[in-house]
Amino acid sequence: MPAITLVGAQWGDEGKGKATDLVGNRVDYVVRYQGGNNAGHTVVIGDQKYALHLLPSGILSPDVVPVIANGVVIDPAVLFEELRGLQERGVNTERLLVSANAHLIMPYHRALDKVSERFLGKGKIGTTGRGIGPTYADKISRAGVRVQDTFDPKILRKKIELALNDKNQILTKVFNRRGLDAEQIIEEYLGYADLLRPYVADTSLVLNQALDEGKTVFLEGSQGTLLDIDHGTYPFVTSSSPTSGGACAGAGIGPTRITKVIGILKAYTTRVGSGPFPTELLDEQGEWLRQQGGEYGVTTGRNRRCGWVDAPLARYATRVNGITDFFLTKMDVLSGLERIPVCVGYDVDGERWDEIPMTQTDFHHATPVYEYFDGWNEDISHVRSFEELPKNAQAYVRTLEEMAGAQISAIGVGPGRDQTLELRSLV
Ligand code: IMP
Repeated sequence: MPAITLVGAQWGDEGKGKATDLVGNRVDYVVRYQGGNNAGHTVVIGDQKYALHLLPSGILSPDVVPVIANGVVIDPAVLFEELRGLQERGVNTERLLVSANAHLIMPYHRALDKVSERFLGKGKIGTTGRGIGPTYADKISRAGVRVQDTFDPKILRKKIELALNDKNQILTKVFNRRGLDAEQIIEEYLGYADLLRPYVADTSLVLNQALDEGKTVFLEGSQGTLLDIDHGTYPFVTSSSPTSGGACAGAGIGPTRITKVIGILKAYTTRVGSGPFPTELLDEQGEWLRQQGGEYGVTTGRNRRCGWVDAPLARYATRVNGITDFFLTKMDVLSGLERIPVCVGYDVDGERWDEIPMTQTDFHHATPVYEYFDGWNEDISHVRSFEELPKNAQAYVRTLEEMAGAQISAIGVGPGRDQTLELRSLV
């Protein structure tokens, strides 16, 4: 049976939590494969709203095994706080599995994330300040601390002391901050060993065995395609690989296992943090989208930048992820517009581009070329089938589908679990 990957097709915040929740009940495993508590998934079940940052959405479905795989970076304090919060609301969290190979976010990673952003001034990336970038940097430079290291006090001590040798020099001498105390960090992280132990597993082995047994594994990406370290708007990206290729490395399963890649595409575009965003609206229309769509960050509470949908961007996401199906989210937000602009290409210094320009310099100069589609006034939040949608809404979906290069298989018309039109089965 298959592994299915879900990826954000824009700059994150496309509504992945809703999509995961929809299919979450029909799969056996829900796996996070990259990122950390920089993510923010909102899941609405009945009158209950859950904001998850680190845990896979599958934690809310009693028959699903939620997995934090090797590609994720874990802030243990956040993990246990999130677990406690759910336990207090009656959610059973015992099924969670955590990879022994996942890297840990350390206090010096958080400190360096914040201070380096401050020093970048106007050139800042606008990170979430959770220590994500510095943790992945240590992973790549082979100086990271992994979940399994908490089980070996000697190794843990050695790694933390070694890390602080240079991190404290940087904090004090470059950034003029106070150094961190090794003993305090060692004590805190040794304390996590017993808390982590019941959850820790060889998650790659577990997932591959599950696939061999015919189970369905759902790989839940965080952030989005344009925030990918390789394929995003570098350097205004996150430090991991949210794209579908990253799912294999981040979960320890082979690409031949993946049979479907679902791209989550919001009916308009948002972005948090710095970086190019050709269709961004800096006027009252942008504010209208922000208010209609409730575009305020789940993780940081920051206002999201808002703009119209960008078809070349969606097409790019199809290309780099091999998207087979789109889930179009927040379609209801567009109700009430007389006409809806869709970006179909860019003007770059007087030259027309149909695809995302190859260089960042050109992308920074790109202004959108729009085509306009007739809008609809009807409230579509109660609609449950494609045929019930107003004709103009149907045409909007069909146009996007054609431009994005993959079929739209589901449409979100509200935040609730039942406010989804499933045109064909996603699982
Ligand atoms: P970092 O992931 O905290 O290093 O932040 C790097 C960039 O990714 C910043 O522009 C963040 O705003 C953005 N980012 C990180 N996580 C998310 C997310 O879940 N949704 C949207 N943007 C995100």
